[in-house]
Order: sequence, then C-alpha cells, then structure tokens
Amino acid sequence: MTQRYRAAALGLAAAAVLTIAPVHAQNKVKVGFMLPYTGTYTALGNAIENGFKLYVQEQGGKLGGREVEYYKVDDESEPSKAVDNINKLIKRDNVDVVVGTVHSGVVMAMAKVAKDTNTLLVIPNAGARAVTGPMCAPNIFRASFSNWQPGYAMGKVAGEQGKKKVVTITWKYAAGDESVEGFKDGLKASGGDVVKELTLPFPNVEFQALLTEIAATKPDAVYAFFAGGGAVKFVKDYAAAGLSKTIPLYGPGFLTDGTLEAQGDSAQGLLTTLHYADGLPVAKDKTFRTAYQSAYKMAPDVYAVQGYDSAQLLAIGLNAVKGDVSKRNELVAAMEKAKIDSPRGTFTLSKSHEPVQDMYLRKVEGTQNKYVSVAVKNLADPSPGCKM
Ligand code: PHB
Repeated sequence: MTQRYRAAALGLAAAAVLTIAPVHAQNKVKVGFMLPYTGTYTALGNAIENGFKLYVQEQGGKLGGREVEYYKVDDESEPSKAVDNINKLIKRDNVDVVVGTVHSGVVMAMAKVAKDTNTLLVIPNAGARAVTGPMCAPNIFRASFSNWQPGYAMGKVAGEQGKKKVVTITWKYAAGDESVEGFKDGLKASGGDVVKELTLPFPNVEFQALLTEIAATKPDAVYAFFAGGGAVKFVKDYAAAGLSKTIPLYGPGFLTDGTLEAQGDSAQGLLTTLHYADGLPVAKDKTFRTAYQSAYKMAPDVYAVQGYDSAQLLAIGLNAVKGDVSKRNELVAAMEKAKIDSPRGTFTLSKSHEPVQDMYLRKVEGTQNKYVSVAVKNLADPSPGCKM
C-alpha cells in the first residue's frame, strides 16, 4: 500500500469509528424540572431539585452513561399556566424527560400534555389519583405517593386511638379532597367517621373563622392537609387558638415535614403518617442523610427523598437502554420492574406506575418527625380506572 492509500484508509477507518458511536451517546440527556420556585410550595420544589441532583452527582454527573443537562420552569403551583409551562420544556427546550411537579392541579394538566406528546414524565411529589387512575399511561411514572395513601394510614391510626367524630380541614383542590377521602376510608375501617369537612381555597391561610367553627363543633380530633408555608401557618394558628390542648391534631406527614424549625413549640407531639420519617431503621437512609447534609448544609425531608428517588427511577430506565431514549419500550419496561433502594425503605411500583410502600406513624420531637411504627405495610392505592 502506498503512503497515500494508507492515509486514506486510516481516514476512512477514523470516520467509521465516529459514525459508529451513536448520536445519543455524544449528547447530554436533557432533564426538565417543572417545579414551584415561588409561592407556598417553594421549599418543596427546591428540596426535590436538590435530592434529584444529589443522586446524579453520586453517579458522576451521568444517567445511562450520558451527562445530564438541566432546564427549569417555575410552575408557581398555578394550574392555569401549566400547559404553557410544560410546553416550554417540551417544545422550546426539547427535553428528554420532564420531572414535575408538587401541586396536584398542575400535574393533571401536565399529564394530559405528556400523554398527548408521549413525553416521559416522572412525578416527584403531586399525589393526584387521576394520573395513576383514569389518566395513567406507559410514559407517566410517580416516585412519590398517592394523596390517598398517607390519609388512609392516618385514618386507620386515629380510629384505633378511639377517635369516633373527626373534623377535616384542607385547601379545596384535588390533594386536599383525596387526602380526606383516604383518611375517611381508614377511619371508617377502624370504627370512626368524619362529621364535618371544612375547606378554604388554595393557597389561602386565613384560618380564623374555620378554627372558631372547630372549637364550636368539639370533635374528638381534627385531620388537616396543608403543606409548605401554609402548613407552618396552620399549625401555629391551631396552637395559638388554644385548640391543641383539647382537640388532637392529625395529618399526613406533609403537615410537619420540612416545616418544624418554623413551627417550633406549636408542633411538638403531633402525630402524622407518611412514607418517610426521621430515625428510620433503613441503612440507605443513613448514607443518604449524611450525603445530603454535607451537600446542602441542611437535613433532608420527604421532598428531598422523592427527588432522589425520581432520579433513581429514571436511572434504572436509562441504564437499561444505555442512554438511548429512543428505545422507549425497553426503558419503560425497566422502570416498571424497578426495585428502588430508597431512603424511605425499598419500594416497587404498582401496575399503574406508583409506589407500593410502607406508611409510617411519626411523632414530632424537637425538629424531628421521629419514627414510631409502621402504620400500614406495603400500601397500594387501589388506583381505580387505570387501564394500560
Ligand atoms: C399535591 O398537591 O398533590 C401535594 C402538594 C404538597 C404536598 C403533598 C401533595 O406536600
């Protein structure tokens, strides 16, 4: 072979190597966060993002062998802006996957767009039952909970503690309604009932008139769904009205997660149920908490765990296809079979793509939601209406 031919042959071989390397391996995987970065749920959005990024950092900044590039939209927990907001990520930024959101009303609008455009959606919080019920789809996964789950567990515990007549109070939207529905199912199964359901519009925090009504009704207990800034204000107002001395306050753990420093004395002793707690007997939780504390100089809460687990779930899918998101069926099949090694304890997904998981009873002590016991083991939302 002459010099010239050898050079040409080498050149061809080099070109062949370049073309063999798949295009997707050269590009970054685009992850779009649609989360609340303003409003009453701001802290929740930040914790989810922190948790997600911590897991990716632990994988050397990669998922499925590809580096990760982040895009962000503040959804303001505003359902009327949800379609425009998710389209910024899908159409403008061309993301491979949307991770969002916190608010159930927003997620329902997102799920519709995700379904219509076949965009992969991983939900790191919002518990709206519809998205894993009638709206369920192969491309929609939830790494968090259904609104019904913690509510059901709390109702069961309240009934077992002899509470027969309970008043509920919440924001009037899907999350509050479904949390109360779960609570009622659990309470009725253990001998009690809900005698009055009080609501106010999201994200209103003018609780005074409703607290007066609770005092007049004199129930055996109160069940409240609030979260973030609204939960801080509600728990403080409940104590300030003198109600905590006479009427025990219960809630899903959102009432006291990520809020205890701000709630201070007003939250001490509260019992709540959730799929996470401080002091869990879970080995993975110990390493997670150390890593989170060192990365962000604060203790993680349930939202941080859900962000971390959203990344773990996605990694299982992307690793199965070596980062090639065009192999959607294989990616989804791997996610469906996932066994997530979560700080909350290992969990799997139901047929409707949502965690089947233990619900813990917790008690507030200082700035911790201390693990008390397993309230319900392996709880699955019945997910009515999901056909896939
Ligand atoms: C919801 O809207 O689904 C939601 C919001 C905040 C929580 C839990 C559920 O802490």
